[in-house]
Amino acid sequence: MVAHDIIVVGAGLAGMRAAIEAVRNGVNAAVVSKVHPVRSHSVAAQGGINAALAANDSWEAHFLDTVKGSDYVGDQDAIELMCKEASEDIFELDSMGCLFSRDERGYIAQRPFGGADFPRTCYAADRTGHAILHTLYEQLMKYSVAMYEEWFVLSLAVEDGICRGLIAIDINTGKFHRLRSKAVILSTGGYGRVYKNSTNALINTGDGMGLALNSGAQLMDMEFVQFHPTTLKSTGILISEGARGEGAYLINSEGERFMKKYAPKAMELASRDVVSRAEQQEIEDGRGIDGCVFLDLRHLSESLIRERLPQIRQLAIDFEGIDPLKELVPIKPGAHYSMGGIKTDVWGAANIKGMYAAGECACVSVHGANRLGGNSLLDAIVFGRRAGYAASRYAKETVLAEFPENILKDTAQGVAVVMKRVNGEKVADIRDRLAFTMSMHVGVFRDRSRLDAALSEIKKLKEKYKNIYVEDKGEIFNTELIAVLELDHLLSVAECIVIAAINRTESRGAHYRMDFPLRDDKNWLKHTLLLKDGGGIKLSYRDVVITKYWSMERKY
Ligand code: FUM
Repeated sequence: MVAHDIIVVGAGLAGMRAAIEAVRNGVNAAVVSKVHPVRSHSVAAQGGINAALAANDSWEAHFLDTVKGSDYVGDQDAIELMCKEASEDIFELDSMGCLFSRDERGYIAQRPFGGADFPRTCYAADRTGHAILHTLYEQLMKYSVAMYEEWFVLSLAVEDGICRGLIAIDINTGKFHRLRSKAVILSTGGYGRVYKNSTNALINTGDGMGLALNSGAQLMDMEFVQFHPTTLKSTGILISEGARGEGAYLINSEGERFMKKYAPKAMELASRDVVSRAEQQEIEDGRGIDGCVFLDLRHLSESLIRERLPQIRQLAIDFEGIDPLKELVPIKPGAHYSMGGIKTDVWGAANIKGMYAAGECACVSVHGANRLGGNSLLDAIVFGRRAGYAASRYAKETVLAEFPENILKDTAQGVAVVMKRVNGEKVADIRDRLAFTMSMHVGVFRDRSRLDAALSEIKKLKEKYKNIYVEDKGEIFNTELIAVLELDHLLSVAECIVIAAINRTESRGAHYRMDFPLRDDKNWLKHTLLLKDGGGIKLSYRDVVITKYWSMERKY
């Protein structure tokens, strides 16, 4: 049986950064990923990573922007840590060789981003995630960290409230493996594929959240789903906020820069919840075309686009047949990021001993009800490092325990039942219906009746899932089976999102209830906690950590 001190699940920015920190602290860490590490979704991050680097900027200003962006439901102790530690982490990435763009002085270039009062988003053209991910992968190779690539985690080995490793399937062979460890760090990214319109890769199926929930961990704030304002009409592919940061406008079908009505000061650079709502309102009021409004880059110079936004131009050409140098780009809001996730403390510890989480699958919470652009890569790096450090300390004082063998038996049985079934429900049908339901009913604008409709459909789909089967009965690279396993997580995550959204009877950040259009600080300055309870989900609440700023009116 394979054994390591720490097993990191997921090889995006948070996972890689966690593994690096763990080996630097003298423990044996390995990474399990369902895809090759540099295919992790972090590679698709475009616009940048925030840090107060300039002499006339400060972590305090970054802190205030982030608290305000979170609609005052982010925990201020955690936000303070993130903003304070940001610059050192960026300089470390720079010294590892990350190819950040430079300004005319040779300093790391920074651009304006939404919801920020200062241009503090460091970038590598519009391929920032790509640049950082490859830099970290080089470090993993330097430290000879063991990698289990194209292995999918089936279950976590949690016994007596302690996580002792996991069970994974090697996709290439179909064989099951027990991986023993003292600690597991979950860094599996988001669940964007629970929606039909999403910027997320097909691999973003909420696996870490589903695994944690199944093992008795708490999730937090699942109602807060970020819709990015600029995703391509036909595919949902991201067109970076960096475009607006570099001066692109949003216009409606009448050619009007409509943001002046919704955010007269910040205009296109208001925070994402505000911009996405404004777009959706324009579309619903009949000032869109084909369900879209438009991003206008035509006034930007060709040299600027070639230097700073080359990827989005190519994406628009390849996937929409539109050259942003000459034409308007049709865009609409699309599911982009999960503010909620596995509840952790500021060291990444979940409520199960030996279980840690970092990055998008975790909820510390630094993003509250709405994340600022550029704070996701930062969260991944800062809290990935912290989780790696804390897990390594824990591993050093922990004895490697026996692997709970009954978990393998149960897991194998569950898979065998699906493989043996010769007819029943097909994965693609359930997955499509789920994505359609979430996009229809749990989007930018919500209300009780739409949310109820979504929950009842999810319950039906969960029943259908019990009778799922696969046509591919082979062991080697059975992607149909992997899709079935992913769908289980998508259904759990969807249920959590909707239940939490039904219960939050106010509007805050990305959670906008038409039937409760106002923020209600008296009753809802709280985090939602979710726990699996028999067949259902049990909700509880905890207060937000407030250290400096009481909630204020939020204007952009
Ligand atoms: O628009 C973007 O480039 C996305 C950045 C982010 O989500 O932080």
